[in-house]
Amino acid sequence: MQNQSKDMIMIFMRRCLGFSLLCFLFLYPFIITILTPQTKPHAAAADLPLSTNSRWVVDESGRRVKLACVNWVSHLDAVVAEGLSKQPMDVISNGIASMGFNCVRFTWPLFLATNDSLASLTVRKSFQRLGLFESIAGIQANNPSIIDLPLIKAFQMVVGSLGDNNVMVILDNHISNPGWCCSNYDGNGFFGDKYFNPDVWITGLTKMATLFNGVTNVVGMSLRNELRGPRQNVSDWYRYMQKGAEAVHSANPNVLVILSGLSYDKDLSFISNQPVNLSFTGKLVFEVHWYGFTDGQAWAEGNPNQVCGNVVNNMMRTSGFLLDQGWPLFVTEFGVDLRGGNVNDNRYLNCFLGWAAEHDLDWAYWTVVGSYYLREGVVGLNEYYGLLNWNWCDIRNSSFLQRLSALQSPFRGPGIEETNLHKVIFHPLTGLCVLRKSIFDPLRLGPCSESEAWSYTAQNTLSLKGTYLCLQADCLQKPARLGIICTDSDSRWDIISDSKMHLSSKASNGSTVCLDVDSSNTIVTKPCKCLNKDKTCDPASQWFKLVDSTKSSTKTKSIIQFNSISNLPGKDNLWKLFDLF
Ligand SMILES: *[C@@H]1O[C@H](CO)[C@@H](O)[C@H](O)[C@H]1NC(C)=O
Ligand SMILES: *[C@@H]1O[C@H](CO)[C@@H](O)[C@H](O)[C@H]1NC(C)=O
Ligand SMILES: *[C@@H]1O[C@H](CO)[C@@H](O)[C@H](O)[C@H]1NC(C)=O
Ligand SMILES: *[C@@H]1O[C@H](CO)[C@@H](O)[C@H](O)[C@H]1NC(C)=O
Repeated sequence: MQNQSKDMIMIFMRRCLGFSLLCFLFLYPFIITILTPQTKPHAAAADLPLSTNSRWVVDESGRRVKLACVNWVSHLDAVVAEGLSKQPMDVISNGIASMGFNCVRFTWPLFLATNDSLASLTVRKSFQRLGLFESIAGIQANNPSIIDLPLIKAFQMVVGSLGDNNVMVILDNHISNPGWCCSNYDGNGFFGDKYFNPDVWITGLTKMATLFNGVTNVVGMSLRNELRGPRQNVSDWYRYMQKGAEAVHSANPNVLVILSGLSYDKDLSFISNQPVNLSFTGKLVFEVHWYGFTDGQAWAEGNPNQVCGNVVNNMMRTSGFLLDQGWPLFVTEFGVDLRGGNVNDNRYLNCFLGWAAEHDLDWAYWTVVGSYYLREGVVGLNEYYGLLNWNWCDIRNSSFLQRLSALQSPFRGPGIEETNLHKVIFHPLTGLCVLRKSIFDPLRLGPCSESEAWSYTAQNTLSLKGTYLCLQADCLQKPARLGIICTDSDSRWDIISDSKMHLSSKASNGSTVCLDVDSSNTIVTKPCKCLNKDKTCDPASQWFKLVDSTKSSTKTKSIIQFNSISNLPGKDNLWKLFDLF
């Protein structure tokens, strides 16, 4: 296994390095991983199977497992996991883990499970019938072992390769008829549509659940993607989704059963009136999708504070409320144009990341795919939402990945109680948190894993836990500082604007200011930006989210160690006052 991986990396490097240095940067973590198998850069593997504890997904030991997934597409016309003509599957699986994801939402078309002549078609034949001869040559070069395998076996091989790399898999029944999804009239939208016979669907779910029973890294099944269209209604939703859930659970009691809402998986509001009635407990998860285009061009055409406020309220009403009712809510699709030029997407993403951090949600990014064999009639279509580039070699936008990384680890949940409940101050635009490198430096943005522990008091002060220090506004455009007299108006931070993401205080001259960052990521105060009406300005540098956390800072950990070595009885308060640590 090790040697095989090494060989693949070598082959890959020779081809790849020819045209790009970035390629090497992308490969670097894989090379390190493969050459030093004893070091473990990835999150420790969970103790599977998974189940639920109130709104959390937990492992066998009861510890929270935060699902930080990426969608890998295998439901299009060819019914082969995308990218296998560009890279060995093990390189892609390892790359997914190296990018910090612990799971893949792996899509499949229903007919792969119910149509034997489709399932037994070889990979080569599947591409041949579509005229995709270049893809055949690519698979031959990168994944020769699957070229003459039946489609269903190739699908199983990819699941196995993800398992070898400690990546969990959610099997997502994305559509019935292989092809790009979704529209209201594509015949795949709701029970009773042309390609969506409920009995065939139950048969297919049962087959897949059975096939992967005993494959430990398959931890969940999404029963059906984005229910929609003129036939959709609530009573049929209960009738068939409950039936589907029971079928999956009886065929494979290990997997989480994940249910999509109506209207393209935007609407689960009906659950507040009528709970799902199932014979089993501890396995039910709801999924929701949220993109920038979900609200048309609202973000680009409106004031971002107002749009964020409205859309988040709507999300809470239609799906977010489930968390309070004790159900896990898994955002199984979100994504943006990673070229960075889509204003609608950019504004939405800042709001989304704040919401996802605040609720510490499980999620799956759309998508890892850099390009598709064939999508909607276009050969080799470039996926601008894809984490990998067209050639599946480079990372399309590494700064985006950096930004996502704070959300890849849990902030809290069962078994994550490393320290007392506190706040971290998260900045969605950068994916960083407010901290300081040392007492001599001003506050700045840095990795959330090194965040200070803040408390937000009833008087709206933001103080450093375990010290007498609180955040204070100084002069306009100057760094915010830490002080010890925390009763004045410059120490009060109100959460303002419709987005509820501005932290506002009074500067020394009495003017209202907002927390912001300067070009070197130092925390400063500036006039509050575009609180309402203005549609052209972007407030995102001033958007912060106070996020509940029980994670101890990697900085705090070393402090605790130091404290226990240097036993300083009686001096506690003095140390706290000067906050030398
Ligand atoms: C089953 O799949 C084969 C191969 O793709 C296709 O030709 C056939 O029409 C499918 N049958 C049904 C009933 O969908
Ligand atoms: C739901 O849709 C089905 C199929 O269109 C229909 O037969 C049924 O009457 C609908 N039920 C309700 C309550 O609208
Ligand atoms: C729940 O389902 C069970 C078994 O199908 C049924 O007996 C029971 O009446 C249902 N309960 C409700 C509240 O619908
Ligand atoms: C990555 O995204 C950022 C903004 O989100 C953008 O400014 C940048 O140009 C993008 N980089 C690439 C290589 O597309």
